[in-house]
Amino acid sequence: MVKLSGYKKVKAAVFISGTGSNLKSLIEFSKKKKSPISIDLIISNNPKAKGLKIGKMNKIKRKVYNFKKKYKIESQILYDLKKHQVKMICLAGFMKLLSRNFITKFKGKILNIHPSLLPKYKGLNTHQRALNNNEKYSGCTVHLVNSKLDSGKIVLQKKVKITKNETVKSLAKKVLVQEHKLYPKAILKVFNL
Ligand code: GAR
Repeated sequence: MVKLSGYKKVKAAVFISGTGSNLKSLIEFSKKKKSPISIDLIISNNPKAKGLKIGKMNKIKRKVYNFKKKYKIESQILYDLKKHQVKMICLAGFMKLLSRNFITKFKGKILNIHPSLLPKYKGLNTHQRALNNNEKYSGCTVHLVNSKLDSGKIVLQKKVKITKNETVKSLAKKVLVQEHKLYPKAILKVFNL
């Protein structure tokens, strides 16, 4: 899906809104020789996102945008992505919806990680809804982003068993451990590696 040119890593941006544990795992992965991407820019809609500190510790350029004026902000982001020669975007706990126009500009080059076995439980409160429905399994999905919420082509999924006394907290924790492994694997897959 995404082509590597020569031996150079493809420059990627990671979009975050909060803790940034997926960002951390992506940074660790990007530093490995086998990684087809480098992380050159971190974009957050939230100035208090803990993930920004992770970016700072790793000396990665960070930008915070207030998404209230979404269209204006998106054109600024597109400008920044171009400036940093970013060719791929990884959404990692990014809780804002990107416009169709923005997505079209990076068609097939935006990945997202979602804490459910899509197409089940798109949107928010995935763990609570899975537990309410007495699901036996939940998990996580890495997918390509299209203009519909959590609906693009699935790249990889990982199932997680829901145990008897599972809580939202315990399930979220268990799923996150798998997310950190799944995202790098999905990136290798989109590069056919
Ligand atoms: C992760 O569980 C991610 O899948 C989820 O937010 C969490 C972010 O954690 N994303 C969504 O729900 C997007 N719809 P992190 O900031 O520690 O990576």
